[in-house]
Amino acid sequence: MRLDNPKDLFVYELSAMYDGENRIAEMLTEVADRVGDETLTQMLRTHQQETRQQAKNLEQCFQQLGTSPQQVTCGPVEAIHREYREFLDRQPSADVLTMFALGGAAKIEHFEIASYRGLVGKAMLMGETKCIQLLETNLLQEEETAGKLERFANELGQRMLATA
Ligand SMILES: [Fe+2]
Repeated sequence: MRLDNPKDLFVYELSAMYDGENRIAEMLTEVADRVGDETLTQMLRTHQQETRQQAKNLEQCFQQLGTSPQQVTCGPVEAIHREYREFLDRQPSADVLTMFALGGAAKIEHFEIASYRGLVGKAMLMGETKCIQLLETNLLQEEETAGKLERFANELGQRMLATA
């Protein structure tokens, strides 16, 4: 793909985000099945469905731009996934794994928040009104999810300390 102007860069970054959302959807299924807390499993499954919709919102964004997703690997999400798998190999206890998974999920959400803020900014610069709306929808969901994960991690941490 050519990378000569702001629109090319926007499409490149959108493509990385699209790869990231698809990786996250798969990862959420993998993690939701492993954590030992029903409330968290449900929370992750709900966000998995939102993530699938977010990928569709990005597809609409590509359509608006008259293009399609390019092959771009989302390095940060790939790295957090690898970190999770390596941690699993260390055979942590169920609660410790859940805490680690919550931390990993929060890292991903904050990466997504920063990425979507950047993408919304570029869409605004280019006057891509429909894309702004779609990207802001995704951004809002990531912000809400980050808040939920942080509250849940705090509650679980307190419970773990109380019973330690
Ligand atoms: Fe997402």
